[in-house]
Amino acid sequence: MSARTESIVVLTGAGISAESGIKTFRAADGLWENHPIDDVATPEGFERNPQLVYEFYNQRRQQLLSEQVRPNAAHSYLAKFEHEFPGNFLLITQNVDNLHERAGSENLVHMHGELLKMRCLNSQLIFDIAEDFNFDTNCRCCHSPGNLRPHIVWFGEMPLQMNKINQALESCDVFVAIGTSGNVHPASDFYQTAKIHRAHTAELNLERTGSRFDEHIIGNASEVVPKYLENLLQVC
Ligand code: APR
Repeated sequence: MSARTESIVVLTGAGISAESGIKTFRAADGLWENHPIDDVATPEGFERNPQLVYEFYNQRRQQLLSEQVRPNAAHSYLAKFEHEFPGNFLLITQNVDNLHERAGSENLVHMHGELLKMRCLNSQLIFDIAEDFNFDTNCRCCHSPGNLRPHIVWFGEMPLQMNKINQALESCDVFVAIGTSGNVHPASDFYQTAKIHRAHTAELNLERTGSRFDEHIIGNASEVVPKYLENLLQVC
């Protein structure tokens, strides 16, 4: 690790929210909440069967808003770390839940979109949404139905805020990936960008993935993340 840590980037994936009651994407059966990913997470799937896609994200949103789903210790420590670390800190999440912001994280990029937002296909305006919506819902800007889609980045679409992400990766001293399988581009390549720019890289995950980080820490996020961040604060 570099002598002085001035800038840290953390990437999170579905594994950090697993202990909060939200299923990860790549279970052994390759299905996401019993649906083939192609059906519910691609523009083609939405074109084929929009009703299924609306219903799928309506269910995910209701699940997220249920009482059982709450931030866990890993989310909380990341927020605490952000407020105590004196340097630059950016949290990038692939997750579409809102558990990081509920835990108090502030400098946060949702690179794959957000469950609690919907987007107008005409104007690209983004609206907050806590309720169900579908093809029949009147758009708040067009005042007509049929124009709204979940504000989720599907396979084949461009992740959000990539300029900000790349700038942070190119200038960080430490890059930490938490609870992500490293299967999805471009997030899977972030550690390499950071490494090329001389950052120390660490993976905190339930199992060792195929990616070659400088450090691999294996365990449940709620246990390993607080410990790792506490140590990091002491050496910063
Ligand atoms: N603590 C830490 N890691 C965990 C835990 C846990 N409690 N539970 C599971 N994991 C690990 C798994 O071992 C796996 O390596 O989290 C990882 C989750 O991987 P994926 O399900 O593939 O999720 P993710 O990497 O976030 O997926 C990336 O793929 O489907 C798209 O857009 C979707 O954002 C998603 C992207």
